[in-house]
Amino acid sequence: MKIISIAGGSASGKSSFARRLQNRIGTDKANLICEDDYYLGAVEGNFDHIDTKDHALILSHINDLKAGNSIEVPRYDMKIHDRSEEVEVMEPKDVLILEGTQILYRKKLSRIADCKVYIDAPDDIRLARRMARDIIERKRDPEDIINQYLEQVKPMHYRYTYPSKYVADVIINNEFSMYKNPSRLDRYIEIIINRVTGSEETV
Ligand code: ADP
Ligand code: C5P
Ligand code: MG
Repeated sequence: MKIISIAGGSASGKSSFARRLQNRIGTDKANLICEDDYYLGAVEGNFDHIDTKDHALILSHINDLKAGNSIEVPRYDMKIHDRSEEVEVMEPKDVLILEGTQILYRKKLSRIADCKVYIDAPDDIRLARRMARDIIERKRDPEDIINQYLEQVKPMHYRYTYPSKYVADVIINNEFSMYKNPSRLDRYIEIIINRVTGSEETV
């Protein structure tokens, strides 16, 4: 099983890119695991602190899949800030895509990745995207989004996420609008696929 890990700041475009990559490889061949689903239940305070997520469970799930066993992936609900009742039963496949802000921070998780990807976008663009997304999809208040960003998201980004840019095999520039040119990111997708299947090209 080949592992592709995608890190990057909040609203850099990780989840969108990971879904596109999974669809390109084929949902019959590639699983997708989101770090956000591994939040430790009802966390109080800073959702961007490293201790809020169960990285040990992610690692043990990866090992289960590698051993050929199915796993039960938890589901986290951003609207209620807690785990939902449902789980997804996941069977092992050829490729496992992992995505999350801190998915390359811990050494044990970083080491197991066959291809490490960092999605890069400037802070102001990420805040603007997060604002639009969180108001609509996560039912947040604009003032709360800005306060949370300045007090927690931004400082934790420079502590736990940005350093991953320096260990990445592929750095994706995701500053530009995917709506104007949706296929622009496909070039990176081919490079990543070539990398896990043995070709030498890099970005
Ligand atoms: P992440 O998982 O890194 O937080 P998402 O994939 O959820 O990021 O993207 C955050 C928001 O920004 C979403 O509303 C998404 O549609 C939008 N978005 C992502 N990438 C781009 C892009 N290249 N251009 C414009 N909007 C984007
Ligand atoms: O998809 P994205 O990378 O933005 O998801 C991670 C972000 O989700 C974190 O920056 C964190 O602040 C936010 N989050 C939240 N509320 C929660 C859990 C996470 O705003 N209950
Ligand atoms: Mg996401």
